[in-house]
Amino acid sequence: MCGIVGAVAQRPVVEILLEGLRRLEYRGYDSAGVAVVRGQGDLVRSRALGKVAALMAQLGVEPIDGHLGIAHTRWATHGVPAERNAHPHFSGEWVGLVHNGIIENHADLRKRLQDTGFTFTSDTDTEVVAHLVEVFRRQGLSLLDCVLAARCELQGAYALAVISPNEPDTLIVARQGSPLVIGLGIGENFIGSDIQAMLPVTSRFIYLENGDVARITRHKVDIYDVTGAKVERPVKQSSACSFAADLGEYRHFMLKEIFEQPQSVAATLEGRLAADHVLPCLHGVSDALERLAQVDEVQIIACGTSYHAGLVGRYWIEANTDIPCQVEVASEYRYRRQPPRKNLLFVTISQSGETADTLAALEKIKENHGSLATLTICNVAESSLIRESDLALMTVAGPEIGVASTKAFTTQLVALQLLMVLLMQAKGADAGKIAKIVDDLRKLPALIEQALDLNATIEKLAEHFIEKHHALFLGRGELYPIAMEGALKLKEISYIHAEAYPAGELKHGPLALVDSEMPIVTVAPNTALLEKLKSNLEEVRSRGGVLYVFADREAHIQEADNLHVLEMPHVPELLAPIVYTLPLQLLSYHVAVQKGTDVDKPRNLAKSVTVE
Ligand code: AGP
Repeated sequence: MCGIVGAVAQRPVVEILLEGLRRLEYRGYDSAGVAVVRGQGDLVRSRALGKVAALMAQLGVEPIDGHLGIAHTRWATHGVPAERNAHPHFSGEWVGLVHNGIIENHADLRKRLQDTGFTFTSDTDTEVVAHLVEVFRRQGLSLLDCVLAARCELQGAYALAVISPNEPDTLIVARQGSPLVIGLGIGENFIGSDIQAMLPVTSRFIYLENGDVARITRHKVDIYDVTGAKVERPVKQSSACSFAADLGEYRHFMLKEIFEQPQSVAATLEGRLAADHVLPCLHGVSDALERLAQVDEVQIIACGTSYHAGLVGRYWIEANTDIPCQVEVASEYRYRRQPPRKNLLFVTISQSGETADTLAALEKIKENHGSLATLTICNVAESSLIRESDLALMTVAGPEIGVASTKAFTTQLVALQLLMVLLMQAKGADAGKIAKIVDDLRKLPALIEQALDLNATIEKLAEHFIEKHHALFLGRGELYPIAMEGALKLKEISYIHAEAYPAGELKHGPLALVDSEMPIVTVAPNTALLEKLKSNLEEVRSRGGVLYVFADREAHIQEADNLHVLEMPHVPELLAPIVYTLPLQLLSYHVAVQKGTDVDKPRNLAKSVTVE
């Protein structure tokens, strides 16, 4: 989950590395560091606790630079966030290394290396790799051969970048289970955890495959596969633009991204809707539509917010097709035995396309029973999930920088609507019904704009939450996963403990928690379950609970003591989960701002979870 960047160039590289780190900070921000081989032939580093800005300030006072360098922004797994645990890690004066992933057999390796005289200066799993490389360097091996030999002893997941003053113009990298990309320049080359880190300096990339090790100099890239054989990997020209990490008029990226949703939803629909049906908008294998026609079951796999999108997708797919749909978090699915299933469409959902558990679940289905097709709903075109799946349905949210996912979620819901309609079309569903859904989808950007008009009201409402320690979120039907997403948003950026329940489940236990100190947030669009939901709300009110209800203006829920009603636009039932997400995002945002937390980089989290 950490971010890696490296460069070998004729020019000094530290500035390029720091810009790369800044762009990778979404992957972790406990500590950061940079190491270079200097002109005088020594290996030096600078490491700082905290964000990349702290490292930059430190380098301002005590600069280092060179033509070969590696850098890292950390999300702690082994060892607390501290300067001694920050990367790059060294073995003496000769090996410098950065790592993303987890070395599972680090304890055994540490013991063995300590027994042969190595002293450890950190608590990390990474440091064993630096010493292991040094073991082979002392035997006189080239840096490439050192890394090829060392990797045979490593278990777990890693992306590694290694430098040594022994070879002052060589960068060695290795990939197993964690993403790593090579950026090709003119007379200079780069590496990074993702292309964003390198977009200011190149648009030509090579994606390493699992098991690859590469030797990179200014003019040459040699790649060796898992067997040690030299291989060619395709060079891809990226059309992604180097996003300006620019807040514009907004105080935080999260708020900017919340307000971008009318555009990101419109962009995700653009070019995909005909007058009365959805156009074939899947990328990948050419017989996509034929495969959809054969689907007997759908399995959706994702994590966190993307999992919540999948849960909504299940309601939609099962309500509008005869296809059973299951949804599971990737970290559970990957370790669970499942019986083989017939004509399965295996769908992964991910903003980043690099989430380790989701990738492992995809690998598992491909290795085991297989499926009719694997499809990913993903926001990053060059990501591992896109490359590993038969089919892709892209969300067009644009880069999401805030750690709390907002526009990625609503565009995932839009993509799930498109997938649902494609399945309906493939199965010969009623044309009138499809035309109505398509017509409704066109109204979505405008409805989202209307929901955003509640911003100022929600900012005031947030004052009610800042002294609270707990909150409940309620919803019914496809709005239950939206309540789950609202609770997750509040937890992750305001650190208030929040739980979501299907409103009908409250009386089976959680009602015992309800008193005047427990705010209860509810989403109440005008759906078939509205009357049932109203009864559940009365159960809460009669026990002294304070309710905050986002309700359809036609729901006829009246303000009263302990019942705050926030009027929402009237929305078609199928679009309600998307539109009702907006006020919950705004609520968590304003509570966090008023509590003074770090909204865009909440504690202990990272944007892209590339470790298990
Ligand atoms: C949500 O706000 C979080 N950032 C997190 O739950 C996220 O959705 C999860 O880690 C999955 O990430 P992905 O969509 O990139 O796979």
